[in-house]
Amino acid sequence: MVPAPLILKPALDAIGKAIDQRFDRLLAVPDDSRARLYDAMRHAVIGGGKRMRPLLVVAAGDLFAVPRERSLRAALAIECIHCYSLIHDDLPCMDDDDLRRGKPTVHIAFDEATAVLAGDCLHDLAFEILADAATHDDPHARLELITMLAVQSGPAGMAGGQMMDLVAGEVTYDLAGITRLQQLKTGALIQWCLEAGAILGRADDAQKKSLLGYARDLGLAFQIADDLLDVEGTSAKTGKAVQKDAAAGKATFVSLMGLERARSQADALIGQAIGHLASFGPEADLLRAIARFAVDRDR
Ligand code: IPE
Ligand code: IPE
Ligand code: MG
Ligand code: MG
Ligand code: MG
Repeated sequence: MVPAPLILKPALDAIGKAIDQRFDRLLAVPDDSRARLYDAMRHAVIGGGKRMRPLLVVAAGDLFAVPRERSLRAALAIECIHCYSLIHDDLPCMDDDDLRRGKPTVHIAFDEATAVLAGDCLHDLAFEILADAATHDDPHARLELITMLAVQSGPAGMAGGQMMDLVAGEVTYDLAGITRLQQLKTGALIQWCLEAGAILGRADDAQKKSLLGYARDLGLAFQIADDLLDVEGTSAKTGKAVQKDAAAGKATFVSLMGLERARSQADALIGQAIGHLASFGPEADLLRAIARFAVDRDR
């Protein structure tokens, strides 16, 4: 097996470049009074972020030799939804954050109304990208991508998890409750990345089941790592404010089980995630490397 960092670093660099280039092309700023909206969207999506979700889509697609142009379109779509969720997550009515990806958040760099619209438009752009015939020649495959993304973004997915997160001050969650919250808030979009690879690649049921198992464990572990970084990380590295969750009374694995147990829980989940890939050979090494990165990262 190739050591994880040797595969991961170039793969992350390459996907970062590919995504930046495509957003730059898609979001050319018009010469009229909508320019501010496009500028805000560009601020949110270009030049930052780990691009882990796009890389997951491409890595899953590569298992089935999906043409790169197709998997990159799906990668772009999920990054649109992710960035929209970050813009809204940072708003004063939600987490009220000033810093994201090492830059001022969209409502600080622009204003709140523009941030709301920029988030809305990135949400729309995701579906526009998927609906285009360039994403897949079979309209049924495109419809499946779109339906799954709607489900994983909406009240039964990311937005539902954000709601559970927002009421965490009034509701006391036990371990099962926090697991559900994190699975929706963060796990749902990560799940879609693997689903997208499987849909584009016409994976069989057994392969889909393996990827779904991987996605579930990875999503949970990824959010535990985010919660650990909130306590132990630095703003210089993460590019966002830290030490916010406890102050805001957020329910996390860390608040419930403490740092050490949360860390070992994340590690155990990653072992499990990689275990789900047992039926794949070296072609799944990138997915294995991403799983380790999800919990070993410092940003
Ligand atoms: C942050 O996601 C929000 C969570 C769901 C934890 P990332 O840690 O992937 O943020 P970027 O894309 O790298 O900025
Ligand atoms: C947000 O979780 C997850 C989203 C759906 C955007 P957090 O609020 O913990 O994410 P950060 O820490 O601000 O990136
Ligand atoms: Mg939040
Ligand atoms: Mg937040
Ligand atoms: Mg966080």
